[in-house]
Amino acid sequence: MYTDQIIYSKLPRHIAIIMDGNGRWAKEKGKPRVFGHKSGVTAVREVTEAAAELGIEYLTLYAFSTENWSRPTFEVNALMTLLVETVKQELATLNKNNIRLKAIGDLSGLPKKTRETLLQGIEMTAQNTRMTLVLALNYSSRWEIVEAAKKMALDVSEGNLNIDAVNADVFSGYLNTKDIPDPELMIRTSGEHRISNYLLWQAAYAELYFTSVLWPDFRKEHFYQAIIDFQNRERRFGKTSEQVSERNLEN
Ligand code: IPE
Ligand code: IPE
Ligand code: MG
Repeated sequence: MYTDQIIYSKLPRHIAIIMDGNGRWAKEKGKPRVFGHKSGVTAVREVTEAAAELGIEYLTLYAFSTENWSRPTFEVNALMTLLVETVKQELATLNKNNIRLKAIGDLSGLPKKTRETLLQGIEMTAQNTRMTLVLALNYSSRWEIVEAAKKMALDVSEGNLNIDAVNADVFSGYLNTKDIPDPELMIRTSGEHRISNYLLWQAAYAELYFTSVLWPDFRKEHFYQAIIDFQNRERRFGKTSEQVSERNLEN
């Protein structure tokens, strides 16, 4: 089993995933794209369970980007409905497993029913402490950064914030992810090698992991593989390899 190779003391606290390839998965099977989205829920369940079992603290899933509104109306509506159904259906399991639900993105732009179900899910799991499952919905990193800059400018203009006190930490506090540590590992499925406006600020030092597996086929084993790959990398943060290697702890 892959879990034998996982070093539990070196787990990332936060893993972010770009769940991609639902449409192609369905097409391969001669089915409509929406069938791929529905099948992707199984992968969401698998990964959430695997992350919680391992002891990952935060799992952020890119479920709908602001750019995704430009898809055909039928597909957008199906995704919004699927979200409502999934949140309702999984609520008991989330509570049973002590998992807290959160969301990032412009929730005000979601259809009323989707937003209300989501907010209800967030409220009903708010006391859970084992893991936080963050859904990125109507999310765009540039939107989030612009919003943060606007809020910060307002605080400065109203005299609530001294501009000389602004640094990266202060700025982070204005983002949707303010209480969430930066992701150390970012996974994208389906063989695409891009970030697509996801957590641009937060992923400044994330290790990127790309797999050709299409999202509906993604299982616990694939998730473990990504973590093992992550654990075999040397994260240097600008230093030299000698400085960060265990043989030179004094540096
Ligand atoms: C990811 O799968 C799901 C969403 C973006 C909502 P896609 O729907 O992007 O699948 P492909 O990329 O067309 O195969
Ligand atoms: C990114 O996937 C957004 C989500 C996974 C929700 P897309 O399939 O929309 O990304 P692009 O447009 O191909 O980059
Ligand atoms: Mg895609």
